[in-house]
Amino acid sequence: MEGRILVIGSSGQIGTELVEALREKFGNDNVIASDIKEPQIKQEGPFENLDIMDKDQLSEVVKKHEISEVYLLAALLSATAEKHPEFGWNLNMTSLFNVLNLAKEGTIKKVFWPSSIAVFGPTTPQQNTPQYTIMEPTTVYGISKQAGERWCEYYHNKYGVDVRSIRYPGLIGYKSLPGGGTTDYAVDIFHKAITNEPFECFLSENTKLPMMYMSDAIKATINIMQADNSQIKIRSSYNISGISFSPNQISEEIKKAIPSFNISYKPDSRQQIADSWPESINDDEAKNDWGWKPSFNLDKLCSEMLTNLDKILIKENNL
Ligand code: NAD
Ligand code: SER
Repeated sequence: MEGRILVIGSSGQIGTELVEALREKFGNDNVIASDIKEPQIKQEGPFENLDIMDKDQLSEVVKKHEISEVYLLAALLSATAEKHPEFGWNLNMTSLFNVLNLAKEGTIKKVFWPSSIAVFGPTTPQQNTPQYTIMEPTTVYGISKQAGERWCEYYHNKYGVDVRSIRYPGLIGYKSLPGGGTTDYAVDIFHKAITNEPFECFLSENTKLPMMYMSDAIKATINIMQADNSQIKIRSSYNISGISFSPNQISEEIKKAIPSFNISYKPDSRQQIADSWPESINDDEAKNDWGWKPSFNLDKLCSEMLTNLDKILIKENNL
């Protein structure tokens, strides 16, 4: 690595864990965290209060810390973007242009920008959704991710920008809280289960969606960024797959550890978003091109979530 790493949107669900993993690998001082919000947990290492909408501020931070790699995580997620469509579109697109344009000038050498399963829509085949298929997203978030993918490929083909991307499924981790997505229920459910509270799910019991344990997502992110340039054959965004499950299936798994766990269903506007997304994803290209392989199944995910949240609860309450 020539310079340092900048993580933009580091206080969010993914950023919290990505910063920790990158610092473990490259050293605290080589990874600059940045956000408009304070970090969710105390982290050792530099933090910049950076608004990604301000391209001059971005240039200053990049120069000050001699940044060569950027992980751009700032975005408005699916459910929140439906409430603020124009703001969501502006944030998701302007942030990407600000980073891609600095990379085009050659200041930044490598960019990671995540896409999402939200690029797919109701006309996409829902089972084992292939890398290349019909993509007619119906959410603002999905439209912004699809447009972002096109721009990433464009900047690579036209200006040689080394940009790499993954279509994350819904992510589940215990170290950070999610930020306004349709898959957030799959994190909230564990927080309720561990404190013996009933859980009211905003999706219906059989709504199956592609999901992934956070440490698999972090592994995929670091692996694609570490892969040799020649291995990255797709410059829009790669499908990656972990586990697919419905609220009913995950609650049954939780009940194996906590038999008294109680779930009820009250679908809201997020149901329509979920209904437009695939149930499962085919990730052959990621597996073949840069060796992607997930490690967590539903059983392992549930036991990691419950064990770790339990430890946190005990520590917080000095039990
Ligand atoms: P999040 O909402 O938890 O975090 C986003 C962070 O960006 C927040 O800390 C927020 O304060 C910050 N931010 C917002 N506006 C900013 C600005 N103007 N300048 C700087 N920072 C700003 O989101 P996340 O779940 O961590 O997602 C990160 C990325 O991964 C997003 O692009 C998202 O679309 C994508 N993604 C996430 C998931 C998931 O399940 N979490 C799935 C698919 C794709
Ligand atoms: N988890 C994200 C969301 O629900 C998917 O991109 O918005």
